[in-house]
Amino acid sequence: MKSLKSKYQMAAQFCKILPKIELHAHLNGSLSVPTIAKLVRLHKQSYPQEEVPSATEIFNDPKGFDDGYAIFKCAQALVDHPEAVKLAARSVLREFAEDNVKYVELRSTPRDCPGKMTKREYLLAIIEAIEDQSDIKAALLVSIDRRKSVEEADENVELALSLKKEFPTVVVGIDLSGDARVNQLQDYIGALQKAQDQDLKVSLHFAEVKNDKEIEFVLNHCSFKPDRVGHCTFIHHSTAAVGMSESIWKKFCDWNIPSEICLTSNVKCRSVESYQSHHLPMWYKEKLPFAICTDDKGVFNCSSSEEYAQAMQLLELNQEEMLLLSKKSIEYIFADDNVKETLRSEF
Ligand code: IMP
Ligand code: ZN
Repeated sequence: MKSLKSKYQMAAQFCKILPKIELHAHLNGSLSVPTIAKLVRLHKQSYPQEEVPSATEIFNDPKGFDDGYAIFKCAQALVDHPEAVKLAARSVLREFAEDNVKYVELRSTPRDCPGKMTKREYLLAIIEAIEDQSDIKAALLVSIDRRKSVEEADENVELALSLKKEFPTVVVGIDLSGDARVNQLQDYIGALQKAQDQDLKVSLHFAEVKNDKEIEFVLNHCSFKPDRVGHCTFIHHSTAAVGMSESIWKKFCDWNIPSEICLTSNVKCRSVESYQSHHLPMWYKEKLPFAICTDDKGVFNCSSSEEYAQAMQLLELNQEEMLLLSKKSIEYIFADDNVKETLRSEF
């Protein structure tokens, strides 16, 4: 009998060479230790009068949502001018490529840093990094932070729409993210619907915390339907614990919208107790569409291959089944059919 550890190591070896798709990666949550070090140096050179976050703040191992959000804040303080944004995006793309990821959708919240860059310049820097490299196919989702106002959400959608006109193959969608314990998703539906009406795809962080009102609102909405949903932790009646009815789960299954599954993120944020108790097997059992994603590979100290290996072990899949699972994710990307076709032939 192989030990669990050696089984995981074998899965990890295989998943490293497996061609992969990454659909849920926040730029400033995906910065590796070497990238952070480069960003610190760049910041000290460019703005020597400003303080940079300390190593203990930025390399903290998160033990819940609050720790995670504190780390994002530190990373964002370093990525506050176009040169830093470009450095961050280039490094993240290269690292995914080195991990054998063939297509990545990066998402990021445009930030206006007075005297340093506008939101448009922020996004242009990421677009430039995407266009400049040939190691990996990549696209961008513009994020809306639900901690910010609805007006800001509208502003981000307008910006995404105007950049989509200039860079139609790069700017492909909108993401709604930010602390799920703050404000209500319902208020952002107008902005999201506007984006969709003008051909931007929409991914929602959904049921990341227990919030039945929000979940039911989205599932029962008569006109708005997201194109993908992230996390979906508190949607099944067994994970949602008290109060979640079976009919909600049934509705979610009928919806059949692809989920972005982020195992390590959920374990480290403590929204699930362990990998073994993760909700992913229910998706597999019900044949629901999903993609394995990292969420924030820097903050959660993980990689695409490790996430795929965790899934391989949890679902008890063999190599053939794993390749099939990875290949299926191509169908859920937001890029057009040409990109899908090229990827299908590469896998
Ligand atoms: P950025 O948008 O590139 O600056 O990446 C960091 C931001 O992504 C955070 O400030 C959050 O708004 C968002 N984010 C990252 N991970 C999560 C998550 O697990 N849930 C919700 N929002 C997240
Ligand atoms: Zn996320």
